[in-house]
Amino acid sequence: MTERDPENVEKKYDQIARQYRKSTELPLRVYVDRPNLLGLAGPLDGKSVLDLACGEGHYTRLLKQAGAAQVLGIDLSHEMIALAEAAERREPVGCRYQTGDAADLALERSFDLVVAVYLLHYARTKTQLLEFCRTIRRHLAPGGRFVGLNLDMMFDPAHYASRKRYGIWFSGPPNPKEGDPVTVHIANQDGSTASFNNYYLTPETYAQAFAEAGLKDLTWHTLQVSEDGLAAFPPGYWDATLAHPMTVGMRARLGP
Ligand SMILES: C[S@@+](CC[C@H](N)C(=O)[O-])C[C@H]1O[C@@H](n2cnc3c(N)ncnc32)[C@H](O)[C@@H]1O
Repeated sequence: MTERDPENVEKKYDQIARQYRKSTELPLRVYVDRPNLLGLAGPLDGKSVLDLACGEGHYTRLLKQAGAAQVLGIDLSHEMIALAEAAERREPVGCRYQTGDAADLALERSFDLVVAVYLLHYARTKTQLLEFCRTIRRHLAPGGRFVGLNLDMMFDPAHYASRKRYGIWFSGPPNPKEGDPVTVHIANQDGSTASFNNYYLTPETYAQAFAEAGLKDLTWHTLQVSEDGLAAFPPGYWDATLAHPMTVGMRARLGP
């Protein structure tokens, strides 16, 4: 990021890359994130996709396997990109990867779809969010769209811990203000753990940054549990996430 980064996000993800990769096996990622991301993305056949903050490429591969013609994943963390490239070598699906900072990325090409799964909440200020939004805008082809998953800025902090049973939960101030950290905790099924900070900005700040960057029609989407997810767990298992969602889907499009 162009502003001072006291947390050193790149170093953090270099350290927790393997634990984070393991979290993609958690039910919340499998039965909520994956189907909702594909639903928000819509038909991918023949489309070019830029996956910002692709991490170790979990969703990058998913988007390619769902029919996208080309998918390029970008991430700040060298270790995350190394894991993504290793997965591509092990099981080639045709994804490409590059290290880069979503705050100032300037590739010499544009894409039909820009995706950001759990990136935008790394912005601690409106200026940083605007940098991310301008990067999205800069890489969208005419008629292009943006989809993302993000910390839900309308969440109720009273329910921070209610998602412990899913292996992903949050802690932070009861009444967050602009820029306050919200800590994400991960406890994987193999016992490995990780935690890292996301940041609160109001929904109004998001709306302003998107509009200022030239991204139109920002909409927020409540994430649903897939049918097979509902069937795979006992009644009540999903109640906490359905009643008090902490993450949300987003869509926007390139404005004229
Ligand atoms: C919570 S992980 C999400 C990874 C992947 N999208 C997923 O959902 O599996 C956040 C990722 O954002 C990356 N990241 C954070 N700030 C970034 C930036 N400014 N530019 C590019 N990547 C960034 C981190 O390195 C990390 O891989």
